[in-house]
Amino acid sequence: MQSQATYNYKVVRQFAIMTVVWGIVGMLVGVIAAAQLVWPELNVAEWLHFGRLRPLHTNAVIFAFGGCALFATSYYVVQRTNHTTLFAPWLASFTFWGWQLIIVLAAITLPLGFTSGKEYAELEWPIDILIAVVWVAYAVVFFGTIGKRKTSHIYVANWFYGAFIITVALLHIVNSAEIPVTLTKSYSAYAGVQDAMVQWWYGHNAVGFFLTAGFLGMMYYFVPKQAERPVYSYRLSVVHFWALIFTYMWAGPHHLHYTALPDWTQSVGMMFSLILMAPSWGGMINGVMTLSGAWHKLRTDPILKFLITSLSFYGMSTFEGPMMSVKTVNALSHYTDWTVGHVHSGALGWVAMVSIGSIYYLIPRMYGKTEMYSTKLITTHFWIATIGVVLYIASMWISGVMQGLMWRATNPDGTLTYSFVESVKASYPFWTIRFIGGVLFLSGMLLMFYNVLKTIAGEKAYNAPVLAPQAAHA
Ligand code: HEM
Ligand code: HEM
Repeated sequence: MQSQATYNYKVVRQFAIMTVVWGIVGMLVGVIAAAQLVWPELNVAEWLHFGRLRPLHTNAVIFAFGGCALFATSYYVVQRTNHTTLFAPWLASFTFWGWQLIIVLAAITLPLGFTSGKEYAELEWPIDILIAVVWVAYAVVFFGTIGKRKTSHIYVANWFYGAFIITVALLHIVNSAEIPVTLTKSYSAYAGVQDAMVQWWYGHNAVGFFLTAGFLGMMYYFVPKQAERPVYSYRLSVVHFWALIFTYMWAGPHHLHYTALPDWTQSVGMMFSLILMAPSWGGMINGVMTLSGAWHKLRTDPILKFLITSLSFYGMSTFEGPMMSVKTVNALSHYTDWTVGHVHSGALGWVAMVSIGSIYYLIPRMYGKTEMYSTKLITTHFWIATIGVVLYIASMWISGVMQGLMWRATNPDGTLTYSFVESVKASYPFWTIRFIGGVLFLSGMLLMFYNVLKTIAGEKAYNAPVLAPQAAHA
């Protein structure tokens, strides 16, 4: 009987747990890479070298940690908001095991030095094919579930998840077009500046759709849920959706300022990046204002603290990004730590924090518990993480601007004031502060792991909900 059916939580549980595990692994690799910049003698072996660990870090945090968080929450949200169970549960299970296999293959091949050399798309062609297969399966499960929904309306969170799934498929397949020469080596199907343009169309939309649209889907479900308030403006969420997905597509050339890319293309990229601030801030304001009338909850609820702080960082990084896309600003910021600071205010402040908040919401519900084992530990996690992000990004801003200014400083006779190595030496104190910030953020993740294990093992049980929605968008 339909009313006796339960939601499919198995795959949600699996992805939720792996989010925490891969978060720890990916951030640990980030901490090691940060340490290697401070203490170069830590580059002990070829496969442990900074150049190998850096792509391992980016792949692990974006696709393993971020990816598992997106799978877990989207499979949960699509069932709850459409009042139905997952379409083709066996295929959902295939996406879980397939995605884990891809991560393990990445963890083996990247340290061994197998890479296509395209940032955020380093994995070689056999793994690329596997990614495409798993992603298509993901799309079938997600849209199949929407197809058998019991509601007439499709809640806005699903629109964001849906756009993320379709766009990532498109980006991945187009950017990974390559000619294999051996099992572990291929060359891009594109050449020269076209290759660069396709790569940064991919790269920027990976930010826009993998690191933003999917997480906005998360925001539109978990912020109202945790705040126990409806979304501030549903109309704004729809305008936000269409404006964001239309604008992101054109902003990629801001990664290629002052290159062989035609100048007008760079200017188009810059203009669209500036326009992008409007939908980004529209979304941020919509999320934050959802707390209207419930601000007092922020005082006592650390999960809400994570969610709302993530939105503040989202607002900050989407103000900073458009500024950095202005050519004259980019002339200073490009190649410096400023970019790395911008990346982590988005990645740690926004992506990691909204995921952490959402997973804390999910874990007790997934394991039939009333709440997390320790709210105090969540509060501690929140403060350690926030201090960690602030140390990370503030140190990178200072060192970034310093590097940019040192590189462009000239003497009255036109010669350079500083040699490159002097700018490296001047960066050391800031790299040390970044390392400390990273260690703090990682420690928070370890606390989370402990709290999750204790929650799963603990008492505080309740009956699993059956498929009988209590409220709209349950
Ligand atoms: C403990 C937390 C973290 C630490 C210590 C850390 C550390 C680092 C380090 C040392 C680099 C290399 C910087 C350089 O080349 O100068 C880096 C790059 C990067 N990290 Fe992290 N990271 C952390 C978390 C994250 C998370 C959670 C994400 C994404 C969700 C992320 C995404 C990236 C990206 C995209 C880059 C490449 C940046 C660029 O090319 O400009 N990181 N990280
Ligand atoms: C309105 C939104 C945004 C705009 C217009 C924007 C713009 C920019 C610009 C101009 C750069 C520097 C390009 C360069 O000099 O090479 C950059 C780098 C980057 N941004 Fe953003 N950004 C935005 C939001 C975000 C968010 C929210 C995140 C993360 C969640 C993010 C992640 C990154 C990454 C990973 C890079 C480094 C790419 C590389 O490896 O070189 N951005 N962004």
